[in-house]
Amino acid sequence: MAKKTVADIDVQDKKVLMRCDFNVPLDDACNITSDDRIVKALPTIKSILERGGALILMSHLGRPKGKRYEKLSLAPVAQRLSQLLGADVIFADDCIGSETKDKAQALKPGDCMLLENLRFHKEETIKDKAAKEDTQLREAKDNFAKELADMADIYVDDAFGTAHRDNASMYTVPTVMEGKPKVIGFLIEKELKFLGKTLSNPEKPFVAILGGAKVSDKIGVIENLLDKVDCILIGGAMAYTFFKADGRAVGKSLCEDDFLDKAAELVEQAKDAGCEMVFPVDTVVAHELKVGAENKVIDGDIEPDWQGVDIGPESRKLFAEKLNDARTIVWNGPMGVFEIPPFDEGTKVVASAVAEATEKGARSIIGGGDSASAVKNLGLEEQISHISTGGGASLEFLEGKKFKCLEILDEK
Ligand code: 3PG
Repeated sequence: MAKKTVADIDVQDKKVLMRCDFNVPLDDACNITSDDRIVKALPTIKSILERGGALILMSHLGRPKGKRYEKLSLAPVAQRLSQLLGADVIFADDCIGSETKDKAQALKPGDCMLLENLRFHKEETIKDKAAKEDTQLREAKDNFAKELADMADIYVDDAFGTAHRDNASMYTVPTVMEGKPKVIGFLIEKELKFLGKTLSNPEKPFVAILGGAKVSDKIGVIENLLDKVDCILIGGAMAYTFFKADGRAVGKSLCEDDFLDKAAELVEQAKDAGCEMVFPVDTVVAHELKVGAENKVIDGDIEPDWQGVDIGPESRKLFAEKLNDARTIVWNGPMGVFEIPPFDEGTKVVASAVAEATEKGARSIIGGGDSASAVKNLGLEEQISHISTGGGASLEFLEGKKFKCLEILDEK
């Protein structure tokens, strides 16, 4: 059944506690380098403010592990949000405590307040499994969640990027807000619709592109997609684990020796499922990972002093051909070391091929993280059907996992 959204409830004169994922990239001077996650939360934020709700926003930023780091303060996010809204955003120096509670109480309809980084308190990230086994941890997590929950009448979850975590603000807060409305925001609604529809009812041919460093990160995704997709294109360093499993030399390339058997097993599983697994037919190799490093294209074993850094030109052509008549595409993970030109060529060609297929009518979804940044850097964002705001979350969705923090929210 579909979840209730913020559009289904009356927020007038209510205090609304909304979990966002404002885990945005920052440079060394704490400037936000992409405000994408803030922009994508705006429809829900505006809807609540315009309908007379008083909004208390909460999020994590980075992994401060229960300590206060000024570099991980959400203050720059409050500033950026204020610019985007064209209105003041009150910033609370701590997410809990009496001062914050007083500030929350004083909020008027249409006011917006952002709480400081939830993860400055270690209780936010106590795992639910640990809390179940240890009374002290459970009490600490519950008390922290209750302090947050007590500030509000309504809970809204719009943090898709964090949906795979059982953080206190994601799971315990709605659990303790018994009898109060607990709904999803428009961003989560959109993400679930897009990802869900794509996996449950894909138009064929359905092509998955998987890249990135590790096979171990993608095993669940490959296993879940094998009987849904017609073809999986494998790029990135994870290809080298498959190469080695096939008896090829991979030189100094990243390779997960503990997963060679699993890689071979996945190839067999794909054959059984009638899913075509396509590997690079040539590889760009380099001596070092730096701009201007000596490099060459090879099509066989990788020599001892060299490491694979990108898919080669023939592989780019092959992958683009496979994408040419695709009707559904999901992509997670870059094809090479795309931060270091020219080893971004494979990722660029694949991004363009996905954009072209989309223009011809394919539905394309890009999981957050590196492949999303690559598409944005190339200015192809508008040509993609959906770019998810969740890296880890979209990956877990593709693995077929359920998000327990969403399951406990109100049904329509
Ligand atoms: C993300 O950026 O993937 C989310 O914000 C989750 O962050 P986390 O991996 O630190 O929990």
